[in-house]
Amino acid sequence: MMNANVAKLLNEQINKELYSAYLYLEFANHFDRAGLDGFANWYKIQAREEQDHAMLFYQYLQDNGQPVTLEAIEKPAAAPDCHRKVLLAALKHEELVTSLIHALYKAASDAGDYRTMRFLDWFIEEQGEEEQNANALINKMELFGGDAKGGLYLLNQELAGRSYSAPSR
Ligand code: FEO
Repeated sequence: MMNANVAKLLNEQINKELYSAYLYLEFANHFDRAGLDGFANWYKIQAREEQDHAMLFYQYLQDNGQPVTLEAIEKPAAAPDCHRKVLLAALKHEELVTSLIHALYKAASDAGDYRTMRFLDWFIEEQGEEEQNANALINKMELFGGDAKGGLYLLNQELAGRSYSAPSR
């Protein structure tokens, strides 16, 4: 039988991941409106990955005979009007998600729930990558000259090349 607090946090994580998807869709929306389709592509793929994460938590609960409780998804925070600030907001959000995953891992560890700890290993690694990617994007934008138009165009071209792949775990 799964510890009630661990099951509750796993359920909440479905919601947090779907909120992340919603937030990144809002960021994509911001960039689409600005005509930066490469940036929009980047965040649309990011949103799909977050939906995949939500499904991994959903399936894990199902596979372990735990009820899944779906709650309302919060309205996403509006994207900041400056492009660079959107990138910074994405990094801040990933840092928050990392802290949630770590808290979940600690709860599983406290409950002696080794199966859930192993399940979460992938997410701990994934969060490291997500933070790295968000940081790299900020650094690239600075290298390309911040919000300056020529640099934005070039970075937009690069981000248009990102393609979606389902999580392998
Ligand atoms: Fe599901 Fe971006 O962490």
